[in-house]
Amino acid sequence: MPSYSFTDHSYDVVVVGAGGSGLRATMGLAEAGLSTACVSKVFPTRSHTVAAQGGISAALGNMGEDDWRFHFYDTIKGSDWLGDQDAIEFMCKEAPSAVLELEHFGVPFSRTEDGRIYQRPFGGMTTHYGKGIAQRTCAAADRTGHAMLHTLYQQSLKHSANFFIEFFAIDLIMEDGACRGVVALDMATGTLHRFRAHVTILATGGYGRAYFSCTSAHTCTGDGGGMVLRAGLPLQDMEFVQFHPTGIYGAGCLITEGVRGEGGILRNSTGERFMERYAPNAKDLASRDVVSRSMTIEIREGRGVGPGRDHIHLHLEHLGAEVIQKRLPGIAETARIFAGVDVTREPIPVLPTVHYNMGGIPCNVNGEVVTRRGDDVNAVVPGLMAVGEAACVSVHGANRLGSNSLLDLVVFGRAAAQHCARRVEPGTRHRPLPKDAGEIAVERLDRYRNAEGSRPTAELRLEMQRIMQNDAAVFRTGETLQEGCDKLGTTFERLADVRVSDRSLVFNTDLVETLEFENLLLQAAATIHSARNRTESRGAHAREDYPDRDDGSWLKHTLAWVSPAGEVRFDYRPVALGTLTDEVESIPPKARTY
Ligand code: FUM
Repeated sequence: MPSYSFTDHSYDVVVVGAGGSGLRATMGLAEAGLSTACVSKVFPTRSHTVAAQGGISAALGNMGEDDWRFHFYDTIKGSDWLGDQDAIEFMCKEAPSAVLELEHFGVPFSRTEDGRIYQRPFGGMTTHYGKGIAQRTCAAADRTGHAMLHTLYQQSLKHSANFFIEFFAIDLIMEDGACRGVVALDMATGTLHRFRAHVTILATGGYGRAYFSCTSAHTCTGDGGGMVLRAGLPLQDMEFVQFHPTGIYGAGCLITEGVRGEGGILRNSTGERFMERYAPNAKDLASRDVVSRSMTIEIREGRGVGPGRDHIHLHLEHLGAEVIQKRLPGIAETARIFAGVDVTREPIPVLPTVHYNMGGIPCNVNGEVVTRRGDDVNAVVPGLMAVGEAACVSVHGANRLGSNSLLDLVVFGRAAAQHCARRVEPGTRHRPLPKDAGEIAVERLDRYRNAEGSRPTAELRLEMQRIMQNDAAVFRTGETLQEGCDKLGTTFERLADVRVSDRSLVFNTDLVETLEFENLLLQAAATIHSARNRTESRGAHAREDYPDRDDGSWLKHTLAWVSPAGEVRFDYRPVALGTLTDEVESIPPKARTY
């Protein structure tokens, strides 16, 4: 192996990722006086949070009665009882202050007539424990993520955080089970960097690109999850992948649930508003798992629209041009560009599309990464934290409610920064790194840089994406999942025969995409094997061969370890069914009602 040299950096805390959670953590850390590096493979305001449309949930009660306890109930029910109730209590209670703080930082929220933050209805968000419809989702038109991301980046700069932009994090530096930092490649210069830190926070987002059709950016390759698996740690609840009901047919771009929140309606080929049959109360605003399954059934039973009868129509013409222009300008533009549709006159062709990973790096409400060591089901991994979609706290359980994602980012980004501020004295001396620190990362980089096999990365990636799309879909069976596991095993074997054509180090996208692909492949394996293993239906995991929820056997979190060859090993953690305080009662699992 040729010799590579490192540029060394030392910080109190290093954050990997500059989306909503990474920036909220970075800002809070810098504000607390901790020396903070934020390492990001894209310019911060290009992070995928920028694409979040509909809004951020918080029981502000600006547009009707609301209470954080209603939000707590909805989130537990939406999670199909797999969410940890202590964490959900924490998030829902913190929500109003987290959103008002964003307002004060400068997020340009849409306004009510009397000047308060505008809030729209979203799926599964109710008042009085399911009796009424809540207007709980705080919106900046349909570009809420964009507004938040720019504001948080500006706030981070104001507090003098240090950004390392277009740096690709390759692997964690681990020593005796503790994290000591991270190795990254500066893509512009091809130089390698070792970041030594008392705490490393992974805020690397989801791995939507493991699928063929998704709303996620091409950069959503789950790099943190890949690093964690290679460090010999597990990921949690990876079988739960959310399909957003309204991705644009053929293009995958997101059409916000806010459209249905503003009164948009799904119709099948007969013109029927079919959600009235599947969810008589919530209708088009039932939770995403319910709407996605209903749409899939309509298509399967021959009531899809279009020449292939393979999608559904989302109508918003009846809302009128004025409402569309004021509340939904972004999706009007997206529909025009990607579907060739004028939404004031025609419906948008839509299809359930992979949107969010409920699973991820297991961690507690402070953001500390946890694992299972023997009987200790909450064993903290020293020096390592995770926030945002990369993490599994678990507040979303088996299915996330729309607009709880942006909330998760800021609540747990803030909590992680506060936890570090309590634990780390600014400027604390660092122990020297082990002599071989970073060697594993360099060996991996060098192996792929010089990979002379016969299969281009793009070919293997497409193979994985098609397997996931076909065999780990909205509806699953043991048979399709087993087939997917077997096929993915072959993709792992083929990885040894990968070809990277560019041998340089400067902006070698071929190399970086290969490193990203390995991250995706490990998480694809965790997903499809965990899905085969869980013999029940819960939330987004719908097994046709096991159609019922089985609390007796499966009211537990899956932990999955994945070897470099794609072998998967399981263990479990209990679901937290107790609350943090006595301000609210825990909610026992019970029959589904929609
Ligand atoms: O539909 C949407 O605007 C997406 C929101 C979310 O995933 O939280």
